[in-house]
Amino acid sequence: MLKPTVGCGKLRGGNAGEEVILAGWVSSWRDHGGVVFIDLRDSGGVTQVVFGRSSSPEDPGQGELLKRSHSLRNEYVIAVRGRVERRPEGTENSKIPTGEIEVLVQELEVLNTCAELPFDLKNPGAVGEETLLKYRYLEMRTGKLRENLIFKHRLFQETRNFFSGKGFCEIETPFLTKSTPEGARDFLVPSRINPGSFYALPQSPQLFKQILMVGGMMRYFQIVKCFRDEDLRQDRQPEFTQLDLEMSFIDETDIKNILEEYMGVLFERLLGVELKRPFRSLGYSESMLRFGTDKPDLRNPLEIRDITEIASRSSFKVFKSAAETGVVRGVKVPGADKVSLSDIDRLTGEVAELGAKGLAWMRHKDEGLHSQITKFFSPEILDEIRETFETSPGDLIFFIADSTDTACRCLSYLRDKLYRPDPGKFEILWVEDYPLFEKDDEGGWKPLHHPFTAPCPEDIRLLDSEPGKVRSRAYDLVLNGSEIGGGSIRIHSGELQSRIFNIIGITPEEAESRFGFLLKALKYGAPPHGGFAFGVDRMTAGMMNLSSIRDVIPFPKTQKAHSPLTEAPSPVDRRQVYDLGLEVRVPEKPEKGV
Ligand code: AMO
Ligand code: AMP
Repeated sequence: MLKPTVGCGKLRGGNAGEEVILAGWVSSWRDHGGVVFIDLRDSGGVTQVVFGRSSSPEDPGQGELLKRSHSLRNEYVIAVRGRVERRPEGTENSKIPTGEIEVLVQELEVLNTCAELPFDLKNPGAVGEETLLKYRYLEMRTGKLRENLIFKHRLFQETRNFFSGKGFCEIETPFLTKSTPEGARDFLVPSRINPGSFYALPQSPQLFKQILMVGGMMRYFQIVKCFRDEDLRQDRQPEFTQLDLEMSFIDETDIKNILEEYMGVLFERLLGVELKRPFRSLGYSESMLRFGTDKPDLRNPLEIRDITEIASRSSFKVFKSAAETGVVRGVKVPGADKVSLSDIDRLTGEVAELGAKGLAWMRHKDEGLHSQITKFFSPEILDEIRETFETSPGDLIFFIADSTDTACRCLSYLRDKLYRPDPGKFEILWVEDYPLFEKDDEGGWKPLHHPFTAPCPEDIRLLDSEPGKVRSRAYDLVLNGSEIGGGSIRIHSGELQSRIFNIIGITPEEAESRFGFLLKALKYGAPPHGGFAFGVDRMTAGMMNLSSIRDVIPFPKTQKAHSPLTEAPSPVDRRQVYDLGLEVRVPEKPEKGV
C-alpha cells in the first residue's frame, strides 16, 4: 500500500517540486477535456490532484493513469504518488489553504470503492435527520460535524490541563451502581448473577464524588457519561457528558472563582474571546420576575414588568380577577411598528398552547396607550402602565394575566420570540439563591436541585415550619440562555441529611435502603465540601453557537431515544431474558380511537 507522506491539508507553494504520497477520499471529480482533477480529502483538508497532465513530457504512464482515473467515483478511497507543482497562473484557489498547488499524479492505488451514497455529502441539509444519523459516518467525513468534534476534543484537553494544574485528581466512578437521583428516571441494568436485582446507571456521579471527599481526596474531577431516562429535547440526551468536580474545605466564592478562571481559559484558548469577570449574578426570584425563567439569555434586552397592583385598580375584569389570585405582567417590545395584528394573533395562539388564557396588548401611539382594551382603564392607570414600562411612541406591550407560573412561562417565551440575539456575543451569568424545595404534584416538597444540597445556614431554623422559604446554597451557570452547569455546597452532616430526606417524604427506612452508604460515610468525619457539574455537550454547543447538542455528539439518539445507526434499543434473544431472570411483557397497543 502506498503510505501517505503528508496530509491532504498541508501542502503550500513552498512544497513545489517535492514528491509526495497522499491518501484519502475522492471528494469531487472533474474532467476538463482530457485532464481529470480530483479533490482528495482526509481529516485535515483537501488537495487537488491531477491526472493526464504530466510533469515531464516524456512521462510514459499518463495515458494509462488517465484511463484508470475515469473509473474513480466520489468517496472512493485512494492513494496517489506524485509531484507537487504550483498551479498555473490564474487557477489558484484562495478559498482553501492548499489552493496554490496541485499534485500531478504518477501512481494511483485504489484502496476501496464506495457504494451509491444515500445523500450528497456536500448538501447534507437536503435529507432528514433520521438519514443523517443512520449514516453518521458519512456526515462526519465533511464539514461542520467534524469541526465540532475536534472542538470538543480541544475542550477536553484544555479541561484536563486546567484542573490537573489546579491540583484536581481525575478519578473514575462506577456506572453499574445504585440510583443517584437528579430528577429523572433511572436506566436499570438487570443483574444475571443476582436474579431480580438491578443496577442503576448513574444520573450523575454525585454520591461517589461526595464519598471521595469523605475519603480525603479533596479535589476531584471527571469527564463522565451520565444517564437519564427523560423526555428528550434539543438540549437533552439520554446519555450525555458532564465535567464533574468536587472540592473540600471551600465555599461558594472559591468554586465560582475557579470556574470563572476555567471558563476564561476555555474561551480565550478555543475562541480567542475574553470574558468579562467576575461574571454577573442574579437571584432566582429576580430572574423569574425580570425574565420569566431561571436561565435568561442576557443578550436579549427585553424585560418583564409586574403591574399586578396597578391592574387590581383597573376595571378590566380579566386583569382584576387575575390580580386577586395570580399576577399581571407584561413585556415591552420597543419600536414594534412591524408587529402586525396577524402577528399578534399568531403569538396569541402560541401562548395559548403554553397555557395562557389570552394575550392582551397595548400600543403606544401619539400621546398614549391604545388597543381594544384600553377603554377599561382610566387615563391615570394608563399613565401608570406607561410609566412602568417606560414606553415611547411605536412601542408595544404584551400582557399575561394568570398564575405566576403561566405568566413567567409565556412571557419568557415571548421575550425569546420577539428578539433575535446577536449570535457572535456571549452572556454568562450565575443564578443563585434558589429555594431548597418546590411543591411536587401531590402537594409535598421535592428538592429543586438534588437532595444533597445544603440549605443556607440562616434558614435552617425554617426547615420544619416553612420549608418553602428555605434558600439553598446552589448555583447554576447560564450561557446565552442555556443552563450549562449547576452545583452547590453539600450537606456534610448525616443528621441534617436525614432531616432533609424526611421533609421530602423519604422515610428513614427508605433513606437507609437507598442512601444508607452515604449516610454512613457522612458519620465518619465528612469534611465540608461542594462542587459543580458542567453539561459538556451544552457548553460546547453554546460556545459554538449551535442550537442542538446533537451537533456535538458523535452518535446521538433521536427524540424517541432511538439510534438510527445501531437500531438500539432493540428486542433481545429470549434466552438472554431468561438468563436474567426476567419476563418481558410488551404492553398491547391500544385499539384505534381508544
Ligand atoms: P444537574 O442535574 O444540574 O446537576 O446536571 C448538570 C448539567 O448537566 C447538563 N445536563 C444535561 N445535558 C444533556 N442532556 C441531559 N439530559 C442533561 N441533564 C443535565 C446540564 C446541567 O446543568 N450532580 C449535579 C451537579 C452538582 O451538584 O455538582 C448534577 O448532575 O447542563
Ligand atoms: P376577552 O374579554 O376574553 O375577549 O379578552 C379581551 C382581550 O384580553 C383579548 O385580547 C384577550 O386575548 C385578552 N385576554 C384574555 N384573557 C387574558 C389573560 N388571562 N391574560 C392576558 N390577556 C388576556
